[in-house]
Amino acid sequence: AYVITQPCIGTKDASCVDVCPVDCIHPGPGEDGYDEHEQLYINPDECIDCGACEPACPVTAIFEESAVPAEWKQWIKINADFFQGA
Ligand code: SF4
Ligand code: F3S
Repeated sequence: AYVITQPCIGTKDASCVDVCPVDCIHPGPGEDGYDEHEQLYINPDECIDCGACEPACPVTAIFEESAVPAEWKQWIKINADFFQGA
């Protein structure tokens, strides 16, 4: 699945939402609970790996799971956890 990482925080451009063919990108609170850390999240169970969102993001926040930069690896779990129980 594709993953939204730290650069989305404070930007939330939402171009990714417009291009996603399965509507699996959703806004949510910061993973630490702070409203100022709100971002959007990709549901890994619904993402079909089409890749359309990646170039649509103006701040390069989106990466295929295996290509997430080392410093942002924790966002793989953060995205998945957001949809737990949803
Ligand atoms: Fe949606 Fe495709 Fe991005 Fe997955 S890779 S979140 S299906 S646009
Ligand atoms: Fe965030 Fe980029 Fe989408 S800033 S809302 S991941 S287009």
